[in-house]
Order: sequence, then structure tokens, then C-alpha cells
Amino acid sequence: MTLASASGKAILFGEHAVVYGQPAIAVPLSHIRATVQIEHLDKGTTGVLIDAPDISQSYWLREADRDDPLASAVRLTLDELGVKAPFDAHLAIHSELPIASGLGSSAAVSVAVTRALSAHLMKPLEVETISKIAYAIECIHHGTPSGIDNTVVAYEKPVYFIREHQPEVLQISAPLNLVIGDTGVSMRTTIPVSLLRERWEKDPGKYGGWFEEIGEIVIEARTMLKTGSIDSLGDLMNQNQMLLEDMGLSSLELQRLISAARESGALGAKLSGAGMGGIMLALVEPDTAPIVETALRKAGAKQVFITEVDG
Ligand code: MEV
Repeated sequence: MTLASASGKAILFGEHAVVYGQPAIAVPLSHIRATVQIEHLDKGTTGVLIDAPDISQSYWLREADRDDPLASAVRLTLDELGVKAPFDAHLAIHSELPIASGLGSSAAVSVAVTRALSAHLMKPLEVETISKIAYAIECIHHGTPSGIDNTVVAYEKPVYFIREHQPEVLQISAPLNLVIGDTGVSMRTTIPVSLLRERWEKDPGKYGGWFEEIGEIVIEARTMLKTGSIDSLGDLMNQNQMLLEDMGLSSLELQRLISAARESGALGAKLSGAGMGGIMLALVEPDTAPIVETALRKAGAKQVFITEVDG
């Protein structure tokens, strides 16, 4: 039996603008994971059986559609590992990450599948290769991914990321305490991403200006994280949120949670990921975390995660 896993992720700054070439910062959420267990099949059965009970799916690899994300992760990994002969295995996939919520569930599952197959076959893969396979799966989920989700999940380190550039692993000098609230409104990344693209095409000047402003916030945040002077990081999150709101990417549910976090003592709060649903995150002092958690639950959060991120 082989077991492998991958973390979730949260984008601290720069979502959406990153699709248009601006920098963004993302961190792994090591305590919230997707797991893949591989076992040999019973004698007499052949092929790869994919079991994902959390989403009530169970099917044979050979019967899966060409663009089925789980099957594609298996196929691309087996190709990369040079497995030509028939390969028999039972893959059981579990995830603690809510789907379509901004926590990187699809990237985490892809990376866990690749890590599990590579460990099972005892053929190690470079982190860049694991990230490249997960990127191909992200392309199935939404056509124009920046690559930030697969990168932060594959590296499992905080990253300063610019599209089509080598990611910079960020040394965070002081631990960050985050409280994450899930609105429970699932939102496939492709919806806000395409909507924003339409708006940008109609008014590239206005939207391009907002993307640049977000880029400047990200650069400032990177310096603060590196030097450990994170006093104003919360303000930067609030500024980033304002721009995301201007672009129409927030929602009533997100606003409710963001206000509740700020009013209960968070240093700053913003949506994280694609928006229009999904999660928000709040930066807090460690002793304020339980107070913010309670406030988020009262304001309607379906799930709340408290987590610490360090370098
Ligand atoms: C999704 O987690 C982040 C977005 O910026 C899309 C992307 O970067 O591909 C909204």
C-alpha cells in the first residue's frame, strides 16, 4: 500500500491580476489535505480503478472520458513515469478540501495522485514535473490558469509567483495566523475568470489599471513578509479586497464574512481565490483567532479553518 498527500492553498494577494501578468503571493495550507492511497487489485482484475467516495465516483481508467480530471492526472503521470505495460491498481482519493471554494482542491488532488503513483512505482519526479502535470489538469478545469495553484501546492512552500516565470519561494520571517471562512457557495474558477475577461476586453484601460494597483500591493506585501514587518499587511489585504470588489468579484456572503472578521478584531480580510463565492481569509493575532472564528460562524460561514503559515 502507498499513501501520499498534498496540501490545500490560499492566495494571500493578487488573484485574478496574476492571470494578466501581475505578481501574486500564495501559501500552502499544510493542515488541510487531499490524500491518495494505492493498493494492488484483487487477483484476476486488471486496470486502474479510481475511487473518489467524497464525490460519489468510482470508475475504471480505461472507461473514463479523455478530459476527466482524475483520469487525466493518472494518465499523464503514468506517461511521465514511462509506464507502458498494463498497470493494475486501486486508487482511493480523499480530500478535506471543499470543492470549488478557492482552497485549491483540484490542484491538491492532482498533486496527490502524481505523488502517490511516483512513490508506488518508486520513480521519483522533480517538483517542476509534478507542478506541470497539475497545471495540465488545471487547464481542463479552466482554460487560462495562471499556474499559481499547481505551483504552490506542488512546492508546498509560500511562493511569489509571476505567470510563466520561475516561482520564487518566499521566506516568511514571522508566522502568519489566518482564519479562513467558507461561504459554502461553490464557484467554479472558470465563471469569475471568464466574467472578468469579458469586462477587461470591454474596458482594458480601467481593468488594466486595477491589475497594476494589485501588482503594487503584492510587491509591498512581499517586502513585509520577507522582513517580518507585517504590521500593515492587514491594511494591504483590505486594499486588495477593495479592488476585487471594484471588479465585481465579491459577493454578499463574502462581504458578510469579511465585515464580521474585521469587526471582531482581524487585522485585515479579503476574499481568496476566484471569488463570487468560496472562501475569505482574515489575518489575525493568535489570541484573536477564536473570536474571529466565532464571529464568522455567526455570520453564516459553513466551515472555518484556523491555520498558521510560516516560511
Ligand atoms: C484561482 O485560485 C486564482 C485565479 O487567479 C485564477 C488563476 O490564477 O488561474 C482566480
